[in-house]
Amino acid sequence: MIFRTLVTVGLLALTGCSPLQDNVSRISTKSFGSLTDGRDVTQYTLRNEAGSSVGIIDLGGIIVSLNIPDKQGQLADIVLGLDSPQQYLTESPYLGAIVGRYANRIKEGKFSLGEQDYSLAINNGANALHGGLVGFDKKMWHVVPHEGSDYAELKLSMVSEDGEEGYPGTLAVQVTYRFDDQNNLSVNYHATTDKQTVINLSQHSYFNLEGHASGSILDHHLTLEAGHYTPVDDSLIPTGEIAAVNNTPMDFRISKTIGRDIVVDHPQLIYGGGFDHNWVLDRHTEHGYELAATVFAPKSGRQMEVWTDQPGIQFYSGNFLDGSIVGKGGNVIGHRSGFCLETQHFPDSPNQPNFPSTLLNPGDVYDKTTIFKFSTH
Ligand code: GLA
Repeated sequence: MIFRTLVTVGLLALTGCSPLQDNVSRISTKSFGSLTDGRDVTQYTLRNEAGSSVGIIDLGGIIVSLNIPDKQGQLADIVLGLDSPQQYLTESPYLGAIVGRYANRIKEGKFSLGEQDYSLAINNGANALHGGLVGFDKKMWHVVPHEGSDYAELKLSMVSEDGEEGYPGTLAVQVTYRFDDQNNLSVNYHATTDKQTVINLSQHSYFNLEGHASGSILDHHLTLEAGHYTPVDDSLIPTGEIAAVNNTPMDFRISKTIGRDIVVDHPQLIYGGGFDHNWVLDRHTEHGYELAATVFAPKSGRQMEVWTDQPGIQFYSGNFLDGSIVGKGGNVIGHRSGFCLETQHFPDSPNQPNFPSTLLNPGDVYDKTTIFKFSTH
């Protein structure tokens, strides 16, 4: 332990970072600029004893930066992002954002609860995606910072009005980001409603564990703890089938590079333009956190594990990134230069009776947690 501490301190000295001193705050704030309508956006930076940091803004609860050491102790920012807040409102494919009320797609934006039919804003071909035209990724959140003895935390809250984007019920939402000294970034989602509704919240960070400007993620190694997935039609809406992954390119039960099978001639890969599917996690407990995914970047030695109490995970290989967005530091965001692992309930669950329920009733509490754990080897 002492040896590890000495090594860490030594590496931090080499890389010019210093571990936190007792009197140094783990959380700092700065302006992230203003939107064209005049609203100011604030960035909160959470630092830890390992020299790592995560930058989060009140707009969309967006993770704008995540600096994590590689196996040599060198920090790199491993999430894709943008330099101006307005860009996040107008041209972002949900980079780093909290997505809701319903992460992923709902077929034709329609569902029924009891006798009542609901129609949502349509924003993805014929379907509703990630909460609509002004989803949670585009809302201003109220932020309360808090520091513990070995972690820093931000509590983000927001009330989504009854009928917003077509969804029923006044939804009170709280998202808590916690970043601890072991390089664990956890995200807890908490929500209540005053009317029966549907809910599915997720985090839409695009990771590139070699660094955000390192090009393609196809050589990252991925393992998914999932023997099944939910096949989709050509508009990426699930057919309702829960299909086995064996003998398909969707089989990530044993680590393989993201690029290995992405070019296989398989209808699901054609529909997605690559991987853009929901995997059904092999859960062993009903509510516990379980390992869902492991990603390893061979050059830097960075590894990320995703743990969750959710039933599914969308693995998206950044297929729609096409070089048209200029990202942080003027770096063009290239095709498949980031991947997302969005823990979630399954897409279109409100219309799929055999999928786990996404109903939230008055008096119930929606409470889900996902932990991104970073290490090197
Ligand atoms: C999700 C979807 C993708 C794509 C991205 C945003 O991950 O599954 O199809 O829409 O969001 O571009």
